[in-house]
This record gives sequence, structure tokens and C-alpha cells, in this order.
Amino acid sequence: MGLRFFFLVVVFVFWDLEAHANSADPNSQLTQKDIFILAGQSNMAGRGGVINDVATGTQIWDGVVPSACRPNPSILRLDAKLNWVEAHEPLHADIDVASADGVGPGMAFANAVLAQEPSSFGPIGLVPCAIGGTNISQWERGSLLYRRMVRRARAAVAQQGGGGGGTLRALLWYQGESDTIVKQDAESYGRRLEKLFQDIRLDLMSPMLPIIQVALASGEGRFVDIVREAQFGTDLLNLRTVDAMGLTLRPDKLHLTTESQVRLGEMMADAFLNFIPNHLSATSNPINANFDQSTTSPTLLISNFIFSYAMIPLLTILLLITSF
Ligand SMILES: *[C@@H]1O[C@H](CO)[C@@H](O)[C@H](O)[C@H]1NC(C)=O
Repeated sequence: MGLRFFFLVVVFVFWDLEAHANSADPNSQLTQKDIFILAGQSNMAGRGGVINDVATGTQIWDGVVPSACRPNPSILRLDAKLNWVEAHEPLHADIDVASADGVGPGMAFANAVLAQEPSSFGPIGLVPCAIGGTNISQWERGSLLYRRMVRRARAAVAQQGGGGGGTLRALLWYQGESDTIVKQDAESYGRRLEKLFQDIRLDLMSPMLPIIQVALASGEGRFVDIVREAQFGTDLLNLRTVDAMGLTLRPDKLHLTTESQVRLGEMMADAFLNFIPNHLSATSNPINANFDQSTTSPTLLISNFIFSYAMIPLLTILLLITSF
């Protein structure tokens, strides 16, 4: 009983904190960041400009940083030790440590958001979490990757000392190349993806969290079309899909070039900014404008609502009932 009561209190405190995060101490706005999670596999971690070094026979990054990916004092990243540092390419250098990291979409995304909406956004806090070669099963709730992503996202939002926290604005997701090898995996992709997105929103207590996902440009196997169909078929509220198909690939036919990553980052920025109605006339509190129901059926709206908003109160009631 004691434990359950404690759990209840914790749930309500967090629920309340989340609801009032924006109206807290006005001074905290100074360091309040607009936070974006970057997750998925190699093309999110960034392989743009990664080349074979003939001398050593290893893969290295060519070090070329296009102006769209240049550092900016208003763009920070959460490093592997959960400290905010000024962001620069490669964003995943201390996260996806098993491979040579290059340019991904993150810096181009952040620079584009700041360029288009300087009065609404910034500073931006990027939370890189992508790991090359990972399939969707390795990201399911409870897995190492999932738990690390949630831990990093929570740390980013809550951080008190050392740069302050902020508000979660979106999840940027680019993954699925590793699920194109076995047909059954490709066919299970849609179900696993939708579950993952719902789990993340629930665990981050952000039921309407905007998600920008990338439809595959390539794959490790031949079932790319099945995964792409699943991606376009995912019918969740506040989910946008940008299509990477047609962007230029490196000679490995799997990874986007630096130039393609810049283009992708800008496409993702456009998709994100479209969550804000009339985003050209900047709103002061963009997150309140995140409801976009234009493309969603009423039944889905209701089921999304029940799942997202009613889940925690329902669980709580269930706990209460079982306590007595
Ligand atoms: C995903 O990858 C893991 C680790 O390589 C492997 O054990 C598992 O079978 C894969 N699952 C699917 C569905 O491909």
C-alpha cells in the first residue's frame, strides 16, 4: 500500500510538472531549450562524407562541413555524459562510437529551424541517440537503446545546473534499413514502429509529441518497399513523414551523401515548422499550436486521445482499486 501510494504521488507530480513546464519561473526561459531527439540508425547518426582511407584501410570522415551544418552558439547537443555542449559535426561522435560518424541531418535541421523561425525557437538542444546497424526490435521498449534514449531525453528536459533543461519539441526518427533483409521483419515493421512511437510518447509523458520520420532511401536487403509502405501507412496524430527516396547515395548505395543529408535536414525542418499554423507569422508559444487534425479520421483521433491522455489516469485508478 505504501509503495503504491508513493507511486501515485510520483505519477501525479510528473503529470503536473509536465502540464506546467511552460509556465514555471520566467527566468528559466533564459536557458530553456527547444529539445529534439535524434534516433534511428546510421543515416540518422550520419555517414555523409565518410570515406575509405586507402592508407589505413579504415573508414574515416572527410571533415567537410557545409555552411548549412555550421556550428551556431544557439545550437547545443547533449553529449554522452549528459552535459550540454556547443553542437558540431559529427553530432553522434561520442554516441555511435563503433563506426566512423560523418554528417547527418541534425545540424542542417537545427540551422534551418533557427533561420526560419528565429523568434519562436532557440536555443536548440539536440539529443543524439542513433546507432548504426540497429533494427527496430533493438529499439523496442525495455531494450538498451530504448532505455538510453528515454534516459537522455529526460535528462535533457530536466537538467537544472550546467545549462538548464527545456521543452521537448519533436522526435526525429530515421531507421528501417536493417529491417529490409528478411521479409517477415519487413512485414512486422509497421506494427513495431507504431508501438515504439506510442511507447516513447507515453514514457516521455508527451502524448502529442510531434514525430518527424524519414521514409527509407535505401536498405540492407531487398524489402525496402515493404518498410516504406509501413512508414507511410503509420497513422498517428502529429506524425509527419518526409521521403528520402531519390536523394543521392554514396557508392555503398546505403548511406546519404553530405549534400543529401543537408537537403534531408531542411526537409525535416519544413515538416516540423508545418506543425505551427501560419508559421510565417511567428507565434510565441509554438507548442500550443501542435494539434493538427486535418489528415486524421475522427475515430483515430478519439482512440489516440484515449490512449494518450487517459492512459495514466486509468492506470492510476486501476492501481487504486487493487490497493484496497
Ligand atoms: C535484430 O538484431 C538483433 C541483433 O543483431 C538480432 O538478434 C535480431 O534477430 C534482429 N531482429 C530482427 C527482427 O531482425
